[in-house]
Amino acid sequence: MEQTFIMIKPDGVQRGLVGEIIGRFEKKGFSLKGLKLISVDRAFAEKHYADLSAKPFFNGLVEYIISGPVVAMIWEGKNVVVTGRKIIGATNPSDAAPGTIRGEYAIDIGRNVIHGSDSVESARKEIGLWFPDGAVPWRSNLEPWIYE
Ligand code: PPS
Repeated sequence: MEQTFIMIKPDGVQRGLVGEIIGRFEKKGFSLKGLKLISVDRAFAEKHYADLSAKPFFNGLVEYIISGPVVAMIWEGKNVVVTGRKIIGATNPSDAAPGTIRGEYAIDIGRNVIHGSDSVESARKEIGLWFPDGAVPWRSNLEPWIYE
């Protein structure tokens, strides 16, 4: 089953949005397979965002991610990478549709509350970085009520 990496950024934690965000993924039917509250250092944040190192906003993005604890998660389910990104909404909250997490809870791109892997391959890499011991192995007994 497909997995994705989701991170509630420091603004989401500070603003008390953790329960709301986890609830949206749970209510959709996805399964939580990894969860930790963690403060990361600069080197770790730079590794996570390595693909963006040439971007003008890179330093600001790294400063933002290390400014407080984040909630790192593995979510599992059919098409969870693409559907997770739809639940999150467009990267720039100005473009995010009402009803999405960023559409409801964010204004500035540099404080956009949440990260979700943009492909199955990125998810694999990000899960490997944030959860070196892998996902917690368990299966929800609600699956017959979620998948036909
Ligand atoms: S890009 O430029 O197309 O590669 O960037 P994009 O895919 O839209 O976004 C990648 C991540 O960079 C963050 N981002 C920014 N942060 C701060 N300021 C600005 N201007 C900015 N532009 C993009 C964006 O939120 C993405 O972070 P994650 O954590 O993946 O959501």
